[in-house]
Amino acid sequence: MPQNQAAWIKAQGTSLVVEDAPYNAPGPQEVLIKNHAVAINPVDWKMQDHNIFNDKYPHIFGCDVAGVVEEVGSEVKAFTRGDRVIGNAVCLSKGVKYAAFQLYVLCPANVTCKLPDHVSFEQGCVLPLAVNTSSLGLFVPDHLGLPMPSVSPSTSDQAVLVYGGSTSVGATCIQLAKAAGARVYATASKSNHEYCRALGADEVFDYRDSDWVHKAAAAMKDKAVVGAYDSISTDDTAKATQKVLVSSGSKGLVLMVSPPPEGVQGRFVFGANLTSNEDLAKAIWADFLGQALKKGSLVPKPDPVVAGHGLGEIQKGMDLQKNGVSARKVVVTIA
Ligand SMILES: NC(=O)c1ccc[n+]([C@@H]2O[C@H](COP(=O)([O-])OP(=O)(O)OC[C@H]3O[C@@H](n4cnc5c(N)ncnc54)[C@H](OP(=O)(O)O)[C@@H]3O)[C@@H](O)[C@H]2O)c1
Repeated sequence: MPQNQAAWIKAQGTSLVVEDAPYNAPGPQEVLIKNHAVAINPVDWKMQDHNIFNDKYPHIFGCDVAGVVEEVGSEVKAFTRGDRVIGNAVCLSKGVKYAAFQLYVLCPANVTCKLPDHVSFEQGCVLPLAVNTSSLGLFVPDHLGLPMPSVSPSTSDQAVLVYGGSTSVGATCIQLAKAAGARVYATASKSNHEYCRALGADEVFDYRDSDWVHKAAAAMKDKAVVGAYDSISTDDTAKATQKVLVSSGSKGLVLMVSPPPEGVQGRFVFGANLTSNEDLAKAIWADFLGQALKKGSLVPKPDPVVAGHGLGEIQKGMDLQKNGVSARKVVVTIA
């Protein structure tokens, strides 16, 4: 059995340290992934700085992993040892065995998919948490309720607004909403408008333009706007997003990555929960994502910026992500 190691946090607010960790065999519906690359998400440094989602130490962070299947659970049919894969490391809902910042990572098989040869591990690892967080907002029937994504979607008259189209979550939202046939309105800094359009956004507004709410509402008026996805989710962004919906005549909800503030008709989505929604997990991970990556109809974005190599560089990666990124995903290569 190989020796596992992890980037541990020993107490809240302290730096990560690399030490041995238990090697965990997969349960019946899980795979064990030999880690090749991890992406850093804001939640990693937020958990380091504040006691959120965890109060037990030592702990391991990390939600996004790309690597090679090392062991396959007894009921898993879709993967075999040696497959190149990406997966959502669901430590936020299931604990340290499922955290990405270690050499061997357990993933539920229903949030894992094969990575085509033309996609590198560094590119692929940017996707899993963003895919799950976007999907729960866009496709759950009592959220935005878009039809399931397809590699050859029929264009519908439905439309959505994605606030924060250049974030990791927003970039994935744009692509998934287009794969559901919807028209997409997005916001981003002016320098990222072309980026959002290349991902499929039909119109992009500069959220720093003091008149953007009015401009977006005018563009969306009389369109079948099913709602909005606010991938930033501060009180101000949620309220501005709702204002666009109301002014354009839409009765849709604002889907949020944080709990909605008072006065906003919104719903909070938590990406780590997708593994519990068997139907949605199948529609996204088994039926769509691998095929879309292979065909190139969904591309791994934002592009990775590699902070370093090895578990010992993950703290540096977390510090970089905390300093702020624009249309980039901080990645650390592991093997
Ligand atoms: N609930 C969940 O399950 C879940 C899952 C994943 C992420 N999240 C949360 O979702 C948020 C986004 O995460 P992420 O990884 O997608 O972000 P990210 O990629 O780090 O976001 C970077 C982008 O944020 C934009 N931005 C920053 N401040 C902004 C503001 N005040 N208004 C508008 N845009 C702003 C910038 O856009 P420009 O450069 O274009 O200006 C930049 O491109 C974070 O708060 C994260 O913790 C929640």
